[in-house]
Amino acid sequence: MDVKLLSGALGAEISGIDLKDTSIKNFEKINKLLLEHKVIFFRNQNITAEEQLALGKHFGPLEKHVYVKGRDEYPEIVRIIKKPNEKNQWGENWHSDVSYNVKPTKAVILRSIKIPPVGGDTMFANMELAWETLDKNLKEKIKDKKAVHSSLGGAFFTDDYEAMESNGNHTEYTNEHPIVRTHPETEKKILFVNWTYTKKIIGLEKKESDEILEKIFEHQARLDFTCRFRWTENAVAIWDNRSVQHYAISDFFPGRGLGHERIMDRIAIEGDRPN
Ligand code: SIN
Repeated sequence: MDVKLLSGALGAEISGIDLKDTSIKNFEKINKLLLEHKVIFFRNQNITAEEQLALGKHFGPLEKHVYVKGRDEYPEIVRIIKKPNEKNQWGENWHSDVSYNVKPTKAVILRSIKIPPVGGDTMFANMELAWETLDKNLKEKIKDKKAVHSSLGGAFFTDDYEAMESNGNHTEYTNEHPIVRTHPETEKKILFVNWTYTKKIIGLEKKESDEILEKIFEHQARLDFTCRFRWTENAVAIWDNRSVQHYAISDFFPGRGLGHERIMDRIAIEGDRPN
């Protein structure tokens, strides 16, 4: 096995592991790597949907997306499609998946099916580092507080994307989570708010809450907390959604990235209640 670090902050590209091997022994190796690097990448893995699902089930129960219809034959798989002439793509801002749920996603396994010749990389950011390096006064101010996360309603996930189909749910969900959560496996502290879904700090006036969240979002997006993955077809990313945020870059500009399709298959594993 070979482990190539992607940046000084997080992420590793792994070779010498075959994801077609869905044994518990292989899963244990993968989970150890995931906890250490927070997001891990594998190339040239021509796995089937069944193999992707089997790997996912080792992490825990799979979840269906709140708003997006899954594939007909595999309802837990969301096919993320960016059509050739779309500028925007799903997931194009910093977020941790479904942080608005009572139990936000534990981990995600994303498999690339069709990748444009240029553009559409995905970035990840280490939220343990974001907590460790946050300004001392700010830490003191927020360390015992909770924040409201909103799902923004179903339209947010489908209306701007040609091929993303609604499952018919349009309800908006909100939930409160601690701003600083503890990782249930590593016991590390994590800064658990994100630009897309976190709307307000509980117990503060709106103005102060907005100012603090703005400072935190800016801090979380520091490039020295990130790594960036250039996709190739048949690559797989697995991320620990508790300790990282991600950003699907929509750099599809005329004459360069625009004009090409991007297709990914995504499965998500149920998490626990942050505390
Ligand atoms: C997502 O936000 O889950 C999608 C990431 C990607 O397509 O790169």
